Parts: sequence; structure tokens; C-alpha cells
Amino acid sequence: MSNSSSKSDSIIIFDTTLRDGEQSPGASMTLDEKVRIARALERMHVDVIEAGFPIASQGDFESVQAVANTIKDSTVCGLARALDKDIQRAGEALKNANAGRIHTFIATSPIHMKQKLRMEPDQVIEQAVKAVRLARQFTDDVEFSPEDAGRSDLDFLCRVLDAVIDAGATTVNIPDTVGYNLPDQFGKLIYSLREKVSNSDKAIFSVHCHNDLGLAVANSLSAVMNGARQVECTINGLGERAGNASLEEVVMAVRTRKDLFTANVNHIDSTQIINCSRLVSGITGFAVQPNKAIVGANAFAHESGIHQDGVLKNRETYEIMRAEDVGLTTNRMVLGKHSGRNAFKTRLAELGVEFKSEDELNTAFSSFKDLADKKHEIYDDDLQALVTEANLETENERLRLVSMKVCSETGEKPNAELTLMFDGKEVVAHSTGGGPVDAVFKALESVINSGTELLLYSVNNITSGTDAQGEVTVRLERGGRIVNGQGADTDIVIASAKAYINALNKIMEPGERAHPQAADV
Ligand code: KIV
Ligand code: ZN
Repeated sequence: MSNSSSKSDSIIIFDTTLRDGEQSPGASMTLDEKVRIARALERMHVDVIEAGFPIASQGDFESVQAVANTIKDSTVCGLARALDKDIQRAGEALKNANAGRIHTFIATSPIHMKQKLRMEPDQVIEQAVKAVRLARQFTDDVEFSPEDAGRSDLDFLCRVLDAVIDAGATTVNIPDTVGYNLPDQFGKLIYSLREKVSNSDKAIFSVHCHNDLGLAVANSLSAVMNGARQVECTINGLGERAGNASLEEVVMAVRTRKDLFTANVNHIDSTQIINCSRLVSGITGFAVQPNKAIVGANAFAHESGIHQDGVLKNRETYEIMRAEDVGLTTNRMVLGKHSGRNAFKTRLAELGVEFKSEDELNTAFSSFKDLADKKHEIYDDDLQALVTEANLETENERLRLVSMKVCSETGEKPNAELTLMFDGKEVVAHSTGGGPVDAVFKALESVINSGTELLLYSVNNITSGTDAQGEVTVRLERGGRIVNGQGADTDIVIASAKAYINALNKIMEPGERAHPQAADV
């Protein structure tokens, strides 16, 4: 086969925020949150949305099913180990998808085969082929990944790929599971595989790079230059350990350097990037670092005098991309105190938020009015936070904040008094603390005694100005299980209480789910 590709090639953007992204400790999302993110990805015209690992738990199954039932314009994918039970479960979850894909995988590196799978190479090939054949009984769109391909033997990889393509895999994905490869090496790997696998022209070559050495995007781009036509990535680069290749960086690199790529991402609506980025960070509580490429708060801020001068004279002096191309300027002030219910509903619909009932709309609208009383200008980010906040109040939450009073005075120990509903009963909790937030957390712990360790407490302003809402993230750990809690309010002490309560509600829920890359259960 030939390693050349035509000028009109487009790169399939496969987003795995809802699957690999969710594997980041504490990044778990509810069904409604996953559907919201999936809708935002669909609006961006992402080709494939990996919605989850259906066999992990009943909740994961239902989330993949809900995404499959909602999304019409993107392919919805479910992950399955190369095991009958996983594939059947994925097939079932995707039953009603407009376009559904099963992504099945098994490890192929010597260390994974020997230590994790305890299987011989020939057994691995046999199981991979069997998995692909079974998956083809549910859908014609089957992806196969040789896990840890980046550390696998080239000849063995060729044998595996040859066999799975023969068995009906339509996409073969090459993961650098542990983020070990360097760009030149990874590009050559893709080139060699396309050259050596006899039936490589029958499948699309995809890549899935992790960021342990900070090279996930560079490796993905090098793979594209060597013929890969699908890139697996996540919003904000969320994902296991150091994360996955960041979708926004891959898309904007290919767009900005179209002079160097023979393939394109013209079908992706890059103006949706900021909206998606903020949605994902708001929902997961994984804040975006200010200097993060494309979506960081400073990415388009040309702060220093010399740069500003250059930009004012001619923007191309220092800008290689336009802020509006990633959707920055669409994040304008949209609503205020006098905006009506209709304007509120319409703007949220534009942001992809649909209300399930009139009651839900009325509750959200009344929170909006409360916020507008405290803050004149309501931006899209405020609206997103408001909806995220409403979604945090799940039906089965055991702990709820009714009201709180906190005193902070020079020379005195701050103290907090919280009125809570816990398991349907009203409880009043008091505590003093080193600061007002500490007093609030101690008061909550005096009721719950969660036995958790606080791993992270962070506050970010959602928009600018002293009347901005503060968005607080709290990360708690107990017995190896990590949860993130979020809360937003114009008062950051109240936002902190909400975030801690959200995290406590999550840790109190039963949370058993299988991890796809652990040895079989
Ligand atoms: O990193 C990895 O190898 C994966 C596979 C399941 C594709 O996430
Ligand atoms: Zn991965």
C-alpha cells in the first residue's frame, strides 16, 4: 500500500473526555453532565464521542445509553475489553444510537501480556480476533486498540493488526498508553505499520496518546503527518495521570499550520472550543491553568507593553490565532437583571442546555434572578455555572445546605453556624476554625465525620470583577477513592460550603465501578 494521502483528507476527531477523561481521579460525571458535554461536542461537530465503558457499572451503562439516545450527528462509541461480556454490554448500550461504534482492546506489549494478562502472544491474537468478530455482530463500525502499542514489538503489532482488520475492524487505534514515545519515533511507528500491515488500506489508522512526558499532542500530530486519520483526544487534555492529547490543541495546530498538513479539521467548529472547555472544567472541577495553550485565561492576553504595542499596530505581530476562532469573543455579557424568562431559556438553549420540565426551568430562572440581584452582568460562564450547580443537587443527595452564618473579625477566631438537612432531618452545626472556610468545613465534619482527607481546595473566579462568582473545587479522598465537589456563589465562603457538601454527597454514594485497564474482574 502507499503511504501518501490526498489533500482533501479530513482527520476524524474522536473525543474521549467522557471515558478516558473520566478516568482522572475525581473527574466522575453524572449522566446529565455527560449528556450536556456530549451535546456540546456534537455542536462542535466532533466525529466520534466515546461515551464510556458500559460494563464498568449500571451508572456507566445508563450514561452511554443516554448519550447514544440523544446524539444524532456524531458517532457514539462504547469501550469494551476483548471479552464477550464487555462487548455484549456495549452493544446493548448502543442499541438505539444513530451511529454506534464498539471500541475493543487488549494489551500487546510484552510487559502487559506477561504481567497483567498472563497470556501468550498467540492467545492475545486469538482473543482480539474473537472480540472483533463478536463486536461486528452489533455494528459495522468496530475499532480495535492494541493497548500499550507504544511499547509493543513491531512485528507482533503487525500480526495483531493484520488479524483484526481481517476479522472486520474498521479502525485500528495505536495507543501510547503510558506516554513513553517521542514524536519522531511515534510518527515512524505509524508509517511502518501502514507500510507493513498487508491490509492496512482496509482500516483507518488512529492514535491515542497520553501526556506523561508532555508529548501527547506532538506525538498525535507526528502520527497525522505519517498517515493517521483519526486522533483520540479530550477537552482540556483531561485523562489518566498527565492526561490525553488535548482536542483544542490538536485542532488549532492543524488549522493554524495548514501549510504543513495534508489533512484537515475543516469540519470542526472551533468557535465552540471555549464553551466546551469551560463546561468540562466546571463539571469536573479540574481548573484550566492560566497559561494552558488555546483555552487558558492568558492564552490570548497580550499583557506586556511591547506585545500590546505590536498587536495594536498589526495583530499578526504576536498573534498566530484569532481569539474569536476559538469562541472567546462570543463569551459576551448576555443577560442582566431585567432579562426575561424567554431570553434566559433561549440563551441556555444556544449553549446546549435544555430543560426537562417547566419546573426545572422555573427553578433555574429563579436562581438566575437571585444571581442577577448580586451581579449586574451575567456572562455565559455564569449561566453554565448556574446549570452545573442545579445539576449538582441530585435527588439522592443526603446532605443539603439550608442556611449559614459565618463571623470573621480581627482578633477573634472565625466561627460558622450551618443549618443543614441530613437524611431528611434538620441539624445545626457549629465550629470555629483557622479561617472562615476552615470553620465551615469543621462544622460540616462535626455532623458527617466522613473520615476523608482534603486533597485539594481551590477557588477560581468565573468571570472578572469583584462581584464575580467564585467557583470552588474540593477534592476528598477516602480509602483510595477520590471525589471532587464543586460550588459557585458570589460569596466564596458559601461556594466553599456548597463544594464541600457536594463532595461529601459523592463520597457517601456507593461507588463501585470497574476500571477498563485493570486486569479482568
Ligand atoms: O490508553 C489506552 O491505551 C486506552 C485504551 C483503552 C485505548 O485508553
Ligand atoms: Zn488512554
